[in-house]
Amino acid sequence: MIDSRQEFTFAKLGEHDRADLQQLAERVGWHFADEQVALLMAAGTVYGLHAAGAGRRELIGASAIYPYGRNLASLGIVMVSPEHQRQGIGTAVVRRCLADVDPQAHVMLIATPQGRPVYESLGFRIVEQVHRYELDLASVADGRRSHVATALRQDDLAAVVALDETASGGRREAAYQALWQIARIGVAVRDDGGHVRGFTFALRGTDRWLMGPVIADSVHMAAELVQAVVERLHTEAFACKPELTGGGTVRLDVPGQQAEFQASLQGLGFQETRQSPVMSFGGKTLPGHRDRMFAMIDPALG
Ligand SMILES: CC(C)(COP(=O)(O)OP(=O)(O)OC[C@H]1O[C@@H](n2cnc3c(N)ncnc32)[C@H](O)[C@@H]1OP(=O)(O)O)[C@@H](O)C(=O)NCCC(=O)NCCS
Repeated sequence: MIDSRQEFTFAKLGEHDRADLQQLAERVGWHFADEQVALLMAAGTVYGLHAAGAGRRELIGASAIYPYGRNLASLGIVMVSPEHQRQGIGTAVVRRCLADVDPQAHVMLIATPQGRPVYESLGFRIVEQVHRYELDLASVADGRRSHVATALRQDDLAAVVALDETASGGRREAAYQALWQIARIGVAVRDDGGHVRGFTFALRGTDRWLMGPVIADSVHMAAELVQAVVERLHTEAFACKPELTGGGTVRLDVPGQQAEFQASLQGLGFQETRQSPVMSFGGKTLPGHRDRMFAMIDPALG
């Protein structure tokens, strides 16, 4: 319960708050691996609400905002410690994040059942569903090779940001700079001139691999990219690091409109494990050529 002798303060969280953020996440049932937290913190601004009293200072609420230029922003990792819920703290941290965004921007988020009423009361409405797909890497048969996808190179960053801007409608440069540092795998499909036409990344979660985004010209290209990552995870990429090789699962979050791609994933052995609503402020349709976005970066980054 909120104690009248406690003081509450908002702060931008930094590197030194990483462990507190991970602990708060554990308390609401989320498990953030170090690499994932590094991405969540580097790609935008994470706000925390601390309670202080009796010589202790405790992080009791948090939320992150990812502004992608003037037109688009994503809201994520909204969480309040269980004993402080239903006291307006969730609403307060979300409002703090929204204050950083251009009032005309499309603000999107992926809602949990607990979060949905909070966002609805702030004016967010459901605009689509996102489907989570997971694959057990142990079930992948050896043998098939993608000859189309190759590793991303350092000098591909600008092309990746530009392709993403077309698909997402936002300038997500900070997110890609962070992914560049943190992701273990980045693959691309190129045209005859060597220009990147599609790409994806994968990074290490606590108990699974996190793949995303998948940006591509076609369903076929998107499926090639997924196949290339699955092969690398299953076989060659970590041959020198046995603790990372084989086993485990890989997951990705696919927008509802990508029905044909979802069928391709099922053909590769992926199973749908969850559906969550995507909400946007005022129910505005999301910008960009979303037919080229086959998977989101992450539930928080959109
Ligand atoms: C979602 C969460 C952040 C809400 O935080 P909170 O501090 O409890 O939210 P608020 O007190 O600001 O709630 C605002 C309003 O939302 C509604 N609401 C909040 N939690 C609700 C619930 N569990 N069921 C129904 N309505 C709820 C109510 O209208 C509430 O106002 P009221 O309690 O005065 O009627 C918190 O429950 C949480 O951390 N959940 C686990 C993580 C999570 O799912 N985060 C959301 C990610 S999208």
